[in-house]
Amino acid sequence: MIERMLIGRIENRVLVGVVAFLGIMIITGWVAINEGARMQAYQDLQLARSIENGAALFVVNCARCHSADGRGVQGAGPGLNNPQLFGYDFFPETTQQITELTSEKKSLQTERGLADTTDARKAEIDSRVSAIDSEIDALSTQVRTQVQPAVDKGYDPVNFSRLKNLGWVGTLDSFIFTTLVHGRPASAAYSTLGAMPAWSQTAGGPMRDDQLQDITNYILNWNRDWTLDDLFAVNHFAVQPVDPATFVATNTDPTIMQAYNNDVDAVVAALADVTGNPAAGETLYNGALGCAGCHVAGAGVVAPHLEGTYTRVVDSRLTLPQFQGYTAEKYLVESILLPDAFLAPPNYANAMLPNFAERLTLQNVADLVAFLETQNGPSPE
Ligand code: HEC
Ligand code: HEC
Repeated sequence: MIERMLIGRIENRVLVGVVAFLGIMIITGWVAINEGARMQAYQDLQLARSIENGAALFVVNCARCHSADGRGVQGAGPGLNNPQLFGYDFFPETTQQITELTSEKKSLQTERGLADTTDARKAEIDSRVSAIDSEIDALSTQVRTQVQPAVDKGYDPVNFSRLKNLGWVGTLDSFIFTTLVHGRPASAAYSTLGAMPAWSQTAGGPMRDDQLQDITNYILNWNRDWTLDDLFAVNHFAVQPVDPATFVATNTDPTIMQAYNNDVDAVVAALADVTGNPAAGETLYNGALGCAGCHVAGAGVVAPHLEGTYTRVVDSRLTLPQFQGYTAEKYLVESILLPDAFLAPPNYANAMLPNFAERLTLQNVADLVAFLETQNGPSPE
């Protein structure tokens, strides 16, 4: 009897303990959850204030050239309240088809460049490549006619993303902010209201960085599910860099290697979406980047010959044990972005500038690689 009562009491105590424990957990949990909600509410409020400040600054400083509703001023400032700036794709199915055709074309071209591709196979590849080109043309024309009024104002539905067109590897936030900091001095040449000024006090402009962030937040706040009406309401689309071949970003933020976590494979994967233009690559190689200074003028002494680079890579470099699993493209990308990862034999110095990774856009790299892939004749060494 006494024993039973004792056990009953113990059971009661255990029960009380469990209930109390659960209660405490629930209260702590509730406080914790609510703390998160309060934090979120606080951040939302901060962002709302920032956007509000940004809106006021925008009207006073930017509306003149970009218009108060952000849709741009014809001939002067581009629309920022604009699906193009946000990279919105109105025709994802066509984009998908064009991407597939482009990557087929790319692998055919690589195959064509290999030493053991027969002439018969080359002829087959050439005819498939020209069929691909006309399919891409037809698809592009078809989407362009669907948005003709915007096309007339400079919009291109095939290359629909402003950041991609510029080869910008960072976020839209960093693109807008950086543009505000430095302005766009060269735009004086094509804007009837003058160049986009530099706004940051660090670049001699009138604004503090927190104000620039407020304006950036205001512009980002325009993002939404874009409609064709939004597209047609844009008064002016941003101008493509005058000559993409000579466009070298001076301040890519973050740099390519940072954007892809220092992973060459990730850069190569991203390049799959970018079509390299060998002519643009050649211009960069001989001009703005000065690659030719070492690889042509100093060829064989200062640096390996430009001539036959691709052949040399495929026939000689890739047979080395450390390049097992590399494609020629990966070897070239690594040579450019991380020049000291490997020093070309027999005994070249570690003389290649290490800063290309800070200067090049993804498009620049694609163009350079496409140019180097045309160097598929005999290699002098
Ligand atoms: C005197 C005219 C003028 C003023 C004022 C001006 N801009 Fe610009 N803005 C331009 C021009 C011109 C461009 C370059 C467009 C191009 O390269 O196609 C430009 C480019 C930009 C871009 C990059 C857009 C792109 O797609 O490349 C952003 C963002 C921008 N301006 C924001 C602003 C903000 C915010 C303000 C106010 C703080 C401002 N601008 C004030 C003329 C102006
Ligand atoms: C200051 C001289 C210099 C400049 C400028 C230079 N390079 Fe080089 N490059 C070298 C040297 C030296 C090597 C060999 C050592 C090494 O592998 O890093 C090399 C190696 C290479 C290789 C590997 C070639 C092979 O046979 O394995 C490639 C590809 C390459 N450079 C591309 C470029 C490109 C593209 C540019 C311009 C963006 C450029 N280089 C600019 C000096 C230079």
